[in-house]
Amino acid sequence: MEQNLRTPGPTPIPDDVRDAQAQQMIDHRGSEFAELLRETSAGLAELIGTTGEVFLLTGSGSGALEAAVVNTLSPGDRVLVVTIGSFGDRFAQIATAFGAAVERFEVEWGQAADPAALREHLASTEPYRAVLITHNETSTGVANPLRELAEVVRAAPGEPLVVVDGISGLGAMPFEMDAWGVDLVVSASQKAWMASPGIAIAAVGERARAAGETARMPRFYWDFAEARAWAGKGQTPWTPAITVLYGLRVGIGKLRQEGRERTWARHAAIARGVVAGIEHLGLRPVAPPEHRSGTVTAAWLPEGLEWAPFNAAMRERGLVIAGGQGKWTGRILRFGHMGDVGIEEMAQALEIMGGTLRDFDRDADPSGAAEAAFASFTAETVAAR
Ligand SMILES: Cc1ncc(COP(=O)(O)O)c(C=O)c1O
Repeated sequence: MEQNLRTPGPTPIPDDVRDAQAQQMIDHRGSEFAELLRETSAGLAELIGTTGEVFLLTGSGSGALEAAVVNTLSPGDRVLVVTIGSFGDRFAQIATAFGAAVERFEVEWGQAADPAALREHLASTEPYRAVLITHNETSTGVANPLRELAEVVRAAPGEPLVVVDGISGLGAMPFEMDAWGVDLVVSASQKAWMASPGIAIAAVGERARAAGETARMPRFYWDFAEARAWAGKGQTPWTPAITVLYGLRVGIGKLRQEGRERTWARHAAIARGVVAGIEHLGLRPVAPPEHRSGTVTAAWLPEGLEWAPFNAAMRERGLVIAGGQGKWTGRILRFGHMGDVGIEEMAQALEIMGGTLRDFDRDADPSGAAEAAFASFTAETVAAR
């Protein structure tokens, strides 16, 4: 049975990306690889909105979070982690593991960080060396107002570095690295970039690069100085995931062809469609309307509906979505809609979910939910023209 994979990563990958990933190996110390690396990093820089460096590291997104920390900080540095969910918590864990003096600006799960409250906090304490922020919190489906948060951090005493986990938002949601004053942002190939897992992306601005010169946290595999030295020769320090880079180059080409604004608008319209659909099914979205993610929609599981059997039944019908993480395990469900996605797949997913709800004796209108998603999507895209 064809699977409708709607987790927040890995995401389904288009046929031309799959074809690219099936190509024969090349020498990663040769000119063909140098062109692959150059073209892929340059395309990413354009899509992220930076004239800074973009490093392609072999690893998952969490590796890139670690790289961000160890290349900018020293043990004992005062660091504030703005955490609104489980991935914010992971950022804090990593910084703690490497000896930063971590403080947490903790926001109730399901909510976004408030720039005014952050400003107040930053003004009330000793300066921080860096503030770590999640752009799009995949565990709750909440998007932080990153532009405003970055502005507040840049204006704070000590001008802390703005270090961002952009893993599940970049490429799909509005993001302007240089214009917003983001010093370092990371992502990963299996998200909106439409490739397989395996390449971690780190975009490094001038202030983060300079911070690396004095940062004393231990690092070897993730050392940006190594990545920089080898990038100068069109190479990576270590053997890279060449296959994933083949795919990533195609994914990036597709996004460039669509155009950033159009990609962002498509994701926003799909997200609204999904919300319309789940509301039609009688489910309640987690995120407040003004902070809903463009790539992940989370909803509360209806009272008395157990996640494990419900999820198993959806999988039997071919729909694969995600449940809650950490303290929200068994409490929410999550749809991923990033990268190679249209409203059709989401409408189909909603229809399957609606049918499954019925199997569990819930009152649901599966085809009405699909229609509501289409109607909202169409209204949104017509309005945007
Ligand atoms: C916001 C965010 N941060 C970090 C990660 C971790 O990435 P990975 O699983 O590739 O290590 C994810 C993955 O879902 C994510 O969505």
